[in-house]
Amino acid sequence: MDNGFAESEGMRNLKYLLGIDLGTSGTKTVLFEETGRAVASKTIEYPLYQPKNGWAEQEPEDWWNAARDTVKAVIAKSGVKPEDVKGVGISGQMHGLVLLDREGRVLRRSILWCDGRTQEECDEITQTIGKERLIELSANPALTGFTAGKILWVRKHEPEAYEKAAHILLPKDYVRYRLTGEYAAEMSDASGTNLLDVSHRCWSEEILEKLHIDKNLLPPLLESSDPAGRVTAEAAAATGEGTVVAAGGGDNACAAVGTGVVTEGRAFTTIGTSGVVFAHSDRVQIDPAGRVHTFCAAVPGAYTVMSCTLAGLSLKWYRDTFCQAECQAAKEMGVDPYVLLNEEAAQSPLGANRLLFLPYLMGERSPLLDSNARGAFVGLSAIHTRRDMLRAVMEGVMYSQRQNLDVLRGMKVAPDAMLACGGGGTSPFWRQMMADMFQMPVRTVANREGPALGAAILAGVACGVYEDIPSACEKVIRLNEAQQPDPERGAQYERYYRLYEKLYPAMKESFAELSRLD
Ligand code: XUL
Repeated sequence: MDNGFAESEGMRNLKYLLGIDLGTSGTKTVLFEETGRAVASKTIEYPLYQPKNGWAEQEPEDWWNAARDTVKAVIAKSGVKPEDVKGVGISGQMHGLVLLDREGRVLRRSILWCDGRTQEECDEITQTIGKERLIELSANPALTGFTAGKILWVRKHEPEAYEKAAHILLPKDYVRYRLTGEYAAEMSDASGTNLLDVSHRCWSEEILEKLHIDKNLLPPLLESSDPAGRVTAEAAAATGEGTVVAAGGGDNACAAVGTGVVTEGRAFTTIGTSGVVFAHSDRVQIDPAGRVHTFCAAVPGAYTVMSCTLAGLSLKWYRDTFCQAECQAAKEMGVDPYVLLNEEAAQSPLGANRLLFLPYLMGERSPLLDSNARGAFVGLSAIHTRRDMLRAVMEGVMYSQRQNLDVLRGMKVAPDAMLACGGGGTSPFWRQMMADMFQMPVRTVANREGPALGAAILAGVACGVYEDIPSACEKVIRLNEAQQPDPERGAQYERYYRLYEKLYPAMKESFAELSRLD
C-alpha cells in the first residue's frame, strides 16, 4: 500500500488472533487478522527423546519455551500492537501425559502419543473394564498411544513420581496452564485419554474408579471455544497481560475448524506422516469394533469419527531409501523432492503394472489395530522398475485411507466430497488418485494454516470476535476448485483395492510369527 495513513487506519481497526500449534517436531505460531489472513508465522523445533526402542518423550519446558518465543517472534515481525491481539488459541499433539506436582512443577518428561511402551497396561485396562464397556464409555479401545495406559505405566514403574503427582495434563493444556495459571482440559483432547465418558462429555467415574485413578488429579473440562483464562502478568511475553486464552483442541479437531469441517457431511483426508480420514458428526457414533476413533469435536456438543494411520511414512521411507538421485536433483533445482517423485510415479500406469504395496511399516492403528503388521510388496516381477514400486507405495497409502473411508461409510458418517490436507494434499497427482479411489470430488482449502488457524478461530469465539465456530468458518475459510473423479479409473482402482483388502488378513498370522523371530 502506498498510503501510510490508510494502512495505519486499516490496521487500527483490525482485530488479531493468535493460533499456537504444538506439534511433535516443533511449535508453529501464526498471527491472523480476524479475516483469517495470516500476518506472520514462526516455528521453533525441539528434540524428541527415544530412551528405548519404541519409546517417545518430550520436555514440557521445551513446549513452553517454543510457545512463548514464537508468540514473541510473530508479534515483533508483524509490528501489530500487543493490545490488538484479542485472543490466543492452542492446538496440540494429543494423548501425551504431563504430570505435575502440587506446585505445578513437571515431575518427568512427557510420554507421547507415538510411544508404544504400554501394551501390558492397555491389556490390564481392557481386562478390568471389559472391552465392550470401555468402548461404550470412552468410545475407543485401550490403545498404547492413549493416556490412561501411560498413567498406569508411571504408577507401576515410577511410583515415587506418581506419589508426588497432583495434576495430570495433556501437552497443550500444560502450555495453556503456563500462559494463564489455570488448570483446565477440554473435550476434544480429553477424548484421547480413555478416561472421558465421550457421549456425556464428562470424566468417567466408572473408569476412574475401576482403574483407581483419583479424579482430583484431572482438571475441570471445558468446550474448545470456551475461554479458559487470561494471559498472566508473568507470562505476558508479547501478547499483553489479560488477553483471553481459549481452551483450544487436539490437533485434528483444530485442523477440522481450520478447514471448515464443522458441520454434518464435511470431511477431510490428511496425507502426511500420519494419514487421517476425519468426518464431522452432529451425534455420537461409535464403531463397536474400535477400528476408528470417536472423539468430541471442537464444536460444542458435536463429534468426530476419524482414522489414524502411519501410512504416509511409507513414502518418506521409500524416498530416503531408494531415491537419493531424485533428492539430489531436487536440491539442485530448488524444488521439493516429492514434486519429482510424483512425476516419476505418474509415468507408471494405474495399478503399477500389477504391483501392490501394504503400507504397514510400523504396524497399523486404524483399522487393523495390529502392531505386528508390516509392509509388503505383492506381485513383484522382473519387469518392475523403481517407478512402479513408487507408484505402488502411493497407491497402497491411498488404499489404506480408502479402507478407513469404508469403515466411516459403514457408520453412515462418510461425506460425498473430500478436502485434501497435509503434504500429499498439495499434489494434484495424489488428489486425483484420491478422487478416483474415493469416487468423490476432492478440494483443497485456500487457507493453508490448518490447526493454527483452527486454534485462532477458537480464540476468536472465546473472546467474542466471532459468534460461533460454524459462522466464523463461513467468514474465514475459502475452498479451491474441486478435482472430479473419473469413473473409468475408479473402476480400475476398485479391482486392485478389492485384492488389497484380502492381503492383510491372509498375512496376519505370518506377520505375528515374524514378530516372534529373533
Ligand atoms: C490422534 C493422534 C495424532 C496425534 C499427533 O489420535 O494420535 O493426531 O495427536 O499428531
